[in-house]
Amino acid sequence: MCGIIGYVGKKDKTQSVLMDGLTNLEYRGYDSAGIAYFDSQNIEILKQKGKVHTLSSLIEKPISTCCGIGHTRWATHGKPTILNAHPHQHGKFALVHNGIIENADVLKTKLSEEGYQFYSDTDTEVAVALLDCFYQRNHDILLSIYELMKRLEGSYAFAILCEDDPDSIYIAKNESPLIVGVGNLEMYVASDVPAILQETSKYIIIEDMEYGKVEKDGVHIYNMEQEEVSKEILTFEGTMDSAKKNGYAHFMLKEMMEEPDVLKNLFQSYWKDPDAWKKNLPDFEKYREIDIVACGSAYHAGMIGKCYLENYLGIPVAVSLASEYRYQSIFSRQDKLVILVSQSGETADTLACLKLVQDYGMDTLAIVNVVGSSIARIADYVLYTNAGYEIAVATTKAYIAQVASFLLIALAFSKTHLELEDVKNLYVVQKQFLEKHYSEIVNQLSDASRIFFIGRQVDYAIAMEASLKLKEISYLMSDAYAAGELKHGTISLIQEGTPVIAVVTDPNIAEKTISNIKEVKARGAYVILIISSQLDESFDWCDQKIVIPKVSTLLMPLATILPLQMLAYDIALAKGCDIDQPRNLAKSVTVE
Ligand code: G6P
Repeated sequence: MCGIIGYVGKKDKTQSVLMDGLTNLEYRGYDSAGIAYFDSQNIEILKQKGKVHTLSSLIEKPISTCCGIGHTRWATHGKPTILNAHPHQHGKFALVHNGIIENADVLKTKLSEEGYQFYSDTDTEVAVALLDCFYQRNHDILLSIYELMKRLEGSYAFAILCEDDPDSIYIAKNESPLIVGVGNLEMYVASDVPAILQETSKYIIIEDMEYGKVEKDGVHIYNMEQEEVSKEILTFEGTMDSAKKNGYAHFMLKEMMEEPDVLKNLFQSYWKDPDAWKKNLPDFEKYREIDIVACGSAYHAGMIGKCYLENYLGIPVAVSLASEYRYQSIFSRQDKLVILVSQSGETADTLACLKLVQDYGMDTLAIVNVVGSSIARIADYVLYTNAGYEIAVATTKAYIAQVASFLLIALAFSKTHLELEDVKNLYVVQKQFLEKHYSEIVNQLSDASRIFFIGRQVDYAIAMEASLKLKEISYLMSDAYAAGELKHGTISLIQEGTPVIAVVTDPNIAEKTISNIKEVKARGAYVILIISSQLDESFDWCDQKIVIPKVSTLLMPLATILPLQMLAYDIALAKGCDIDQPRNLAKSVTVE
């Protein structure tokens, strides 16, 4: 989380590059923002609480400077206040940071004993104070950064200004993403390439435990042996087209509208040549076990992936939350594949799991959306979901592309067959759902104090994702339960009028779920049934019903989630919530 931007080059561009870059990076956090730049030899700092546009109001006259850094924050240490906002400054240095310094408390105590006084609650201020402390002794900026890295524990991407070198940005990285954009007599520093894509598509990836100096005409990067490392200049192939709202009120709405075409493109790329499609994937026949590891919605996609892979490939699959998996016992096997699922490809816990299982020598496959992201680069095999740039914090099209990717793996490595007509039909069904709004259900749910989602197997996985969507953007308290588990405690919370959204699309277990729904109905629940047309009988006793038209069983999850995403969107809209940038969240979670 937190977005970092830096620019060194032309005087009249620094302000716009910093402010545009921060706006592009706002999805990484948006509770405060700040910039630092040189005003002749001195560092000037502007910081503001709230979103990036609130920072713009502080700029009274155009900033004319060759060099500056900026930051948009997702608070980890200390509340979102102006004092805690980045850049932080001690002595001749100003620094912005993405990550968490884990030994900040110990270092702070030592620095306090040496006379440093701290004005903020952040771990970042400790890092800049320590940097200043080293510099006071050795008067060498790069050496001080090296010493700093040797002392810090945790994750960081730093962009640093020093008053003794007003033509350079210094950088350092461990675990948090950082790239350098390469221009013509101008250079950029950023958390990711799209932040600077309107300026350049050429970039250099900074690896863990590298640090260096960025000048307008060159970059010098060093490793922890203090040797300069040569870096390859890469070209980003994506575009920023999908980073515009195109007339939609919200990115989330626009991204939902793109879902049918995202799937159409994915299926087409498979169908064109299934053998070519699977050429870069591992040979699934050699695995006896699969672990799927992910966070958030990607974890929910993994739950559906488990159903596809177990049912059609016949390989046992365990799905884990990355934040748990990294600390559990790892049972290493040469015939085990670990699949990491991530939209951003930067999620800290998922990335840590990838590195961990690679240390055990297990094969890894990344299902990732962002091309060239850390997880994509490190994994042995990559399957890109190609959903395009996703901006809304609540994922929709990237999630659905993850689910479809698992389905395509199942198709590619088994004898299971899907008709082209079925895919075409899905496209039509999805388009229809994107036009539908359920105003009565929206009214009913908007004021609910808690909402339950239930389902079994695939329907349970969908229930979990639907519940997360609702929580994320409408702040309604909701939770998803395996339908059969309700009576082991949770049913005590069901009272007259408690909303229960029940998902029933799997014909093998529909009857069982229906019995569970009757149990909650008997206790006064307000039941909203999401049911496939094949299973739809006379469920007059339900309060509301959304019927999923006939779709092939294989494709059913890709249809069912759409009305539930739309419902979450419409409820958040009715409640006046900040749909694209919900409270306390960030899209790319690069801290543990
Ligand atoms: C954050 C986002 C979620 C996302 C999760 C995993 O929590 O708000 O929408 O599902 O991260 O992100 P990833 O990029 O790894 O898919």
